[in-house]
Amino acid sequence: MASFAGKEAEDALKLKSVSVVDEDDDEEEEDEGGGAEGAEGTKKKKKKKKSKKKKKGPSGTTPPHGRMLGGFTDYYTKYGQTEPPSIAVHELSNFKSGQFPQGQIMPHGTTRVPDAAGPELTHYLTRVSEAERRELDTSPDREALYQNARRAAECHRQVRAHAQSYIKPGIKLIDMCDRLENMNRTLLKEAGLEAGPGFPTGCSINHVAAHYTPNCGDDTVLHEDDVMKVDFGSQVDGRIIDCAWTVAFNPRYDPLLQAVKEATECGIKCAGIDVQMSEIGEQIQEVMESHEVEIDGKVYPVKCCRNLNGHSIGRYEIHAGKSVPIVKNNDSSRMVEGEFYAIETFGSTGDGYVVEQGECSHYMKDFNCPHVPLTMGKAKKLLGHINKTYSTLAFCRRWLERDDGGSYAVHKFGGKQEHYMGAMKVLCDQGIVNEYPPLVDTFGRGCYTAQYEHTLILRPTCKEILSRGDDF
Ligand code: CO
Ligand code: CO
Repeated sequence: MASFAGKEAEDALKLKSVSVVDEDDDEEEEDEGGGAEGAEGTKKKKKKKKSKKKKKGPSGTTPPHGRMLGGFTDYYTKYGQTEPPSIAVHELSNFKSGQFPQGQIMPHGTTRVPDAAGPELTHYLTRVSEAERRELDTSPDREALYQNARRAAECHRQVRAHAQSYIKPGIKLIDMCDRLENMNRTLLKEAGLEAGPGFPTGCSINHVAAHYTPNCGDDTVLHEDDVMKVDFGSQVDGRIIDCAWTVAFNPRYDPLLQAVKEATECGIKCAGIDVQMSEIGEQIQEVMESHEVEIDGKVYPVKCCRNLNGHSIGRYEIHAGKSVPIVKNNDSSRMVEGEFYAIETFGSTGDGYVVEQGECSHYMKDFNCPHVPLTMGKAKKLLGHINKTYSTLAFCRRWLERDDGGSYAVHKFGGKQEHYMGAMKVLCDQGIVNEYPPLVDTFGRGCYTAQYEHTLILRPTCKEILSRGDDF
């Protein structure tokens, strides 16, 4: 999920003439993940990064990942997983010990802003000794926390590796989501709030940047020329992995995808204890805006979606209060040891500014929601269902309408909610539940947005990119 800021221009939603930049030679890069690894990260990459049969394009180069040309399903068989995957990740013999693969290890990004603001801002890495940092990093509490997050990340990697083999033009989005989410539930061995999907599967298309998933009855089909952002979550003990990539079959979008991938990698590289949010945003913007993309003979600059952000992640709290901007701003707050972050960037050929538009599918209980006595029986019942099934995790209408109401572990086949929209409106009006409607570039139809996202944790000794895989 993306964090959305600012409603300054709801009325900005209007059609504009296509902004055309003088044609220039476009520097298309076929190299998958060319800029994808920070220099420091490359050497320290985890061992499991060798894909035996990555398909090569006709020219011998690796086709960009966004085209989903297959060859990804071998990711999990090396761990004893079946094809298609059917075994819960923590029950695979390789992981029975409770030790899951570590993510990519990188050094913390360094802040360029001196610690002149006072002793309380004296940088962590100089204030705390290496021995103290190592002690904290290896404490039993931390170890348990890391393993929960890594288990969720391993599920995410296996689920998406399989999804990348069946996402093709012509697929119905609702079928795609059901298939992906069912596998997510299986590999996590869904156990209500203890383990399960972290939030609904976003599959926002083209000018829709985020927070779209089909509601029941939505027959939308994925087309050859679509640009789709697949954003789904896996959680174990409330530790949510929030990770997304972009699917595009038409090679004309490769430069757009490459721009956003590089921008996200830049954000990942910059992140670190004591680093200011504004520093990260500025550098992401510089990378994103150094790209352009040619579509149907017109050259478009790639713009950052300036009111979409990365975000801190808390336990059962997908947006924990801190935003990681993707453009230059004046946010002087800093990243802190122990925090989880979703680093995500969005690039657009349109306005680079999103507003809420269209039918809502995503909902989430307010994390700090006040206790409100409810008079309407149906609202009370729905809230009871949400509390038991999702607590403060995000959910969608499709899940409420499953036979298990969103959790087989909690409700078996007796969880289905019916005729609940009136009750949902009451919960939203009372501020107990918040709506997250689709976020759409104000340019409207005809523009394209792309996204890449990873979840990382700022450990005392290093930064761990939990969701890193051999795909992106
Ligand atoms: Co996110
Ligand atoms: Co996301």
